[in-house]
Amino acid sequence: MAHALKNLSVQVLKNNNVEAIGAAAARASHWWSQVQMGPPDVILGITEAYKRDTDSRKVNLGVGAYRDDNGQPFVLPSVKKAEEVLYGKGLNHEYAPIGGEASYTDAVAKLAFGDNSPVLAEKSNATVQTLSGTGALRLGFEFLVKHYGDKEVWMPNPTWGNHPQICNTLKINHKKYRYYDPKTCGLDFQGALEDINKIPDGSVILLHACAHNPTGVDPNKEQWKELSQLIKKKHLFPFFDMAYQGFATGDVNNDAFAIRQFVQDGHQVMLAQSFAKNMGLYGERAGALTICCGDEKTASIIMSQLKIMIRVMYSNPPLYGARIVQTILNDQQLKEHWLKDVKLMADRIITMRKELRKGVEGAGSKLPWQHITDQIGMFCFTGLKPEQVEKLTKEHHIYLTKDGRISVAGLCNKNVHYVAEAIHKVTA
Ligand code: LMR
Repeated sequence: MAHALKNLSVQVLKNNNVEAIGAAAARASHWWSQVQMGPPDVILGITEAYKRDTDSRKVNLGVGAYRDDNGQPFVLPSVKKAEEVLYGKGLNHEYAPIGGEASYTDAVAKLAFGDNSPVLAEKSNATVQTLSGTGALRLGFEFLVKHYGDKEVWMPNPTWGNHPQICNTLKINHKKYRYYDPKTCGLDFQGALEDINKIPDGSVILLHACAHNPTGVDPNKEQWKELSQLIKKKHLFPFFDMAYQGFATGDVNNDAFAIRQFVQDGHQVMLAQSFAKNMGLYGERAGALTICCGDEKTASIIMSQLKIMIRVMYSNPPLYGARIVQTILNDQQLKEHWLKDVKLMADRIITMRKELRKGVEGAGSKLPWQHITDQIGMFCFTGLKPEQVEKLTKEHHIYLTKDGRISVAGLCNKNVHYVAEAIHKVTA
């Protein structure tokens, strides 16, 4: 009897399970069966693969995130100080204004355009806080679609992978102008001039203000001046992405040269800024979008439209990262401390470039590696082919993007020689 009861209850359980599984399957397939699995992100997906790797030699050179010389995430000492100041203030957590605090937007615009910029003196800028650089790009492109119409966007070839993706999402027609020369691993300046000369009048041109991502190749000052004149003659609208102010040369004013030159030449630029890298505030999402509007009245009209767009997207921006940024930028002593921190990061990257080049050459490679030290900023476009990248990852546990870009900031004294030897092995 007990045995029969047991069998019966097992059967009931089984039936219940079958029913439960059937119901779960029906639930799962009913609404979302048409949704396809998406590919992992070409940059952030690499970090996921790196985390899954259990080999002790693994190195992540995929994402552009600064590491200290022990390969650890770096909280800038100036940021720590700013956090102490903020903590001492006992601030509340009320909503920020839709466009962010004025003490933040004024400070970040000043950092980009310079203390004595005519844009700021005329109050002709509409600046809003955004969800870091990506948020600024997304808002800026969306503003262009809504208020500037069906214009083409021209991007350097290559460019940061998220640029075309944002435009695809917004159904913006985007094309490429020549920028990088794979033969020299440097700038194809003539090619860029020729292509820009053919861009239809009134189009939007996307420019990396400094430390071009992914190539680490920037125009020099004379070339920027020439580009500015050509872009003006062609009546193109310049949209600058400045995610690395300070990372190219270690000097925030030097790195803002292009933007300030364009403003001086009479362009009304649009600018996306990020504090992810130069303040190490990756996850805090502190950035800004500025539209130079020509005069104060137009700036207030543009501002009203930006606020409408922000309100329906995320209502208002997060406070914490922006508070850190403004605390630093609005205090002379803290700002000087921060400028030293930026220089320290930029210098460590330069040292790693030298070490990597020395290491690959020292390992016996007969290939030219000068571009490792010629390129600037966070990234080196190594020139490695996709199959060499694959070998580097599969055989040596070194993670980088398929296009051969490495984040030099991911190198440190502990791993640079291992990486150099592995690069030699896969290219020999
Ligand atoms: C990068 O290019 O690695 C960074 O800008 C991080 C990102 O969001 O892609």
